[in-house]
Amino acid sequence: MFKVKITGTGSYLPKKVLTNFDLEKTMDTSDEWIRTRTGIRERHIAADDEATSDIVAKAAEKAIDMAGITPKDIDLIMVATITPDNAFPATACWVQKHLGIDTEIPAFDIGAACSGYLYGLIVSAGMIEGGLVDRILLCGAETLTKITNWDDRSTCVLFGDGAGCTVVEKSDGDSAILSSYWGADGRLGDLLIQPAGGSRMPASHKTVDENLHTVSMAGNDVYKYAVSKMKESAMEALRRANLTGDDVDLYIPHQANIRIIEATIKRAGIPMEKTSVTIDHIANISAATVPISLDEAVREGRLNRGDILLLTVFGGGFTWGGAVLKW
Ligand code: UT7
Repeated sequence: MFKVKITGTGSYLPKKVLTNFDLEKTMDTSDEWIRTRTGIRERHIAADDEATSDIVAKAAEKAIDMAGITPKDIDLIMVATITPDNAFPATACWVQKHLGIDTEIPAFDIGAACSGYLYGLIVSAGMIEGGLVDRILLCGAETLTKITNWDDRSTCVLFGDGAGCTVVEKSDGDSAILSSYWGADGRLGDLLIQPAGGSRMPASHKTVDENLHTVSMAGNDVYKYAVSKMKESAMEALRRANLTGDDVDLYIPHQANIRIIEATIKRAGIPMEKTSVTIDHIANISAATVPISLDEAVREGRLNRGDILLLTVFGGGFTWGGAVLKW
């Protein structure tokens, strides 16, 4: 158990919306296929001049405001992302600049693909409990449509852009992270990957011509592991908290496919009414999905102090995890 709590949430979705009907006009797909196979209706698209740190800053301002603090009260910035502004410096450093924080606090990114926010939450909890820092700005943010292969209908319909931020700090009351569970299996890295642009395959004319800087996914294989690991993460996080699905007031899963969510809640015994489903209007935003869904739940009044909140994630790596929070 970690005696930490989330005191502020904020999210931002870029203004441009691309619906399934818009996609029908430019490729061989249909609203019907996308909705029934994934649960997605529309996704938000970052503007050409909008980088990941720009949208993080907008979400961060809302989270900081809800927490009733100022940017200067933050001790550390962490951004979970696979679409950083640059390979370096870290997107978190650009966020520090955008927020006008000149107190020289540490800032770094977390790379755990779709599991990045939950990994960041566990890391944050450990650092706060260990006495390293008191208050962390923890964000998950992506501009995935900038690394989307628009010629590949099996992936390009799945992703969207957006940012979600949280202020994580010491808890003096009942709020806590009751349990956590996380894992990875690097043997399966090739199944969901951005092949080029790193040291394995540096950028070249050839890699650009062959679209190797975009998301490549073996959809069916990823789907099978996602179902299995999301179920495992939910059950193990609940078991470690000595709770069952009956105790959950709100479940926020990573949103990659509505069918993965349905399979997980069936296994965990959590009704759909207690499950956050945002994939219809935000699509899959990798590390941003959970903090954006969390912010929507808080602002809609679906989450109240004392509630039991279950989070689970799954993503490239493969990486996965779950956590039970007393809100
Ligand atoms: O966020 C991190 C983890 N990511 C995930 O967990 C994603 C996991 N994977 C999935 O969610 C699913 O595998 C997809 C949504 C990506 C694909 O759904 P599927 O039910 O596994 O479809 P499929 O790949 O088996 O394709 C079925 C058919 C194929 O046609 P044929 O070969 O049966 O004639 C595809 O060519 O659907 C076709 N298809 C499409 N048709 C219309 C694939 N993409 C599209 C499309 N529109 N956009």
